[in-house]
Amino acid sequence: MSPSELIRTDVRQGYAAWADSYDAYDNPMIAAVERFLDSRPLPFAGARVLDIGCGTGRVLARALGGGARSALGIDGSSAMLERAQERLTREIAQGRVRLLQADLEGDWPGVPADFDLAIITLVLEHAASVAPTIAQAARHVRPGGHLFVAEIHPDMLATGIGAHFERDGVTIALPSHAHDRAEFSAALAAAGFADCEFEEMRADPQTIAAIPKFAKRAGRGVLLALSARRSATP
Ligand SMILES: C[S@@+](CC[C@H](N)C(=O)[O-])C[C@H]1O[C@@H](n2cnc3c(N)ncnc32)[C@H](O)[C@@H]1O
Repeated sequence: MSPSELIRTDVRQGYAAWADSYDAYDNPMIAAVERFLDSRPLPFAGARVLDIGCGTGRVLARALGGGARSALGIDGSSAMLERAQERLTREIAQGRVRLLQADLEGDWPGVPADFDLAIITLVLEHAASVAPTIAQAARHVRPGGHLFVAEIHPDMLATGIGAHFERDGVTIALPSHAHDRAEFSAALAAAGFADCEFEEMRADPQTIAAIPKFAKRAGRGVLLALSARRSATP
C-alpha cells in the first residue's frame, strides 16, 4: 500500500464514511465474529441485552433472533445508527429494541443498570484503553449478569492491521489499538467482573477455508474473545 493510497481518519469521520457500505463490505473480522457466535451461541433467550458499540445492529438482530426479551444498542455514530434503524425497523416499532447515540466512554443517562448480558464486538480497538468502556458496561449489567467481548486479536493489531475499508481505490484506516489479555483482565477485575474466560480464534485451516482473507495470517491469532460475570458493584 503506498502512502498516496491511504487516508487515516478519526473514528467519527471513519464510520460516517463507512456506514453505507459497512454491511456489504467483505470484512473478515465480521465473518470471524459471526463464525464464533455461530459455534458458541450467547444466552440470548429471555435476556435483556445491551450492545455497546452496536454499529449497524448486526449483533442486536442476532440477539432478538435468539429470543432476547429486549435490547438496547448504543453507538456514537449517527450514520451507523441509521443503518441499524433500517435493519430493525419492525423490532423498534414493536418496542423490542431501542437505539441510543452516545459516547461509549461517557455517561448514558436513562440507561438501566440491570441488563442480563452486555456485548462488545469490534469496538475496543478504537479506544486507547479498554478500561473506561468495560467500567461503563459494569454499571449497566446486573450482579450475576454477563459480559461478552470479541475484538481483533492483539497479534494482528501489532502488525499494523486495524479497522479499514477501501473505497474508489483508496484505503481508509481508522485508529486501532492492540489490547492483550493482561489489559482486559485488569480492567475486568477493576470493574467488578469475575470468572473471565478467554478464547481465541486462530487462522487454522478450517478458519481459512471459511474466511479465505485470513490465509495471509495462517497460524496466527485473528480474534480474541472473552466472557465474564459481574460479581460486585464497581
Ligand atoms: C467496527 S464497528 C462494530 C459494530 C458492531 N459492534 C459489529 O460488530 O458489527 C465499531 C463501532 O463502534 C463505534 N464506536 C467506537 N468507538 C466509540 C466511542 N468512543 N463512542 C461511541 N461509539 C464508538 C463506532 O461508531 C462503530 O459503529
